Amino acid sequence: MPQKVILDVDTGGDDAVAILLAGHHPALELVAVTVTHGNAPLSVTLDNTLRVMQAGGLAHIPVYAGAHSPLIGPPIPTHRYQSETLPVPPSTLRAQPKHAVEFLIAYYLGPHGTETIYMPVGPQTNMALALRLEPRLVQRIPRIVTMAGAYQEGNVTPSAEFNVLADPEAAQVVFSSGIPITMIGLEVTSQAPVSEEVVKKTFALGTPQAQIAARLMQREIDWFREHLGVDGQIFDACAVAAVIDPALVETRPMRVCIELQGQWTRGRTVADVSGHHRQPANADVGIHIDRERFYQVLYDGLA
Ligand code: RIB
Ligand code: CA
Repeated sequence: MPQKVILDVDTGGDDAVAILLAGHHPALELVAVTVTHGNAPLSVTLDNTLRVMQAGGLAHIPVYAGAHSPLIGPPIPTHRYQSETLPVPPSTLRAQPKHAVEFLIAYYLGPHGTETIYMPVGPQTNMALALRLEPRLVQRIPRIVTMAGAYQEGNVTPSAEFNVLADPEAAQVVFSSGIPITMIGLEVTSQAPVSEEVVKKTFALGTPQAQIAARLMQREIDWFREHLGVDGQIFDACAVAAVIDPALVETRPMRVCIELQGQWTRGRTVADVSGHHRQPANADVGIHIDRERFYQVLYDGLA
């Protein structure tokens, strides 16, 4: 039986690859996609998501629009490439009438809630709101597998990774909920950089979803090389692959707290990496990914 998942996205380019992988890999059943602010305003992340769902052969999967803004802080600035409309044809699809938070509450209280992994790969505002409105979700959600955080260096500030900095209070609600968490942070995603060879192999798969993914991965490579001088990363797809094949990612149980106050450290996922502080762990934190196996999972999913 495929593993049921709900993907929560702020579609940007790497979210799009994550959606295509989750929607097409035989090991998963993508039950629904919920959308949040983050890389761009909700109107843009929603439009990008609907474009990818339709062009990528996933029009049958429902999309729910969620939070417009973080719980407390102002939206953090993003790079233009993060907030651009993706190079994917316009969509005729529409989001479901129900708000994403209402959907999440109803779904997780329903018959399939306990068998569905929740995968936030953007700011965690939707789940934070759902948990505050319906605390019983803590007993219903079997695991959260999230692309979030970093136990070493951030990518927006030296302390903070984008998804957590985009809504630190939301991340705090989720990480302190008691729901089992697998945290796929920057230490893992940076071990699986994308390359022109991966783009070529993906494009050669020939399916619509593979060709969209190839185009978007090339776009990541180009932007990262031009603006940061580093390899591009498809951050969010790493979290999806960790659900498809958990053996892909080595994790270590850690206590992870979210810094909300520091002038220089707000949004940091403060992790007891060594375990010396003997605080009960609240997350299985990724420390290594098998890059070759990760991309094989991607090819299998997009073929
Ligand atoms: O820090 C990486 C995260 O920020 C990814 O989810 C990517 O989509 C960007 O939003
Ligand atoms: Ca994202």
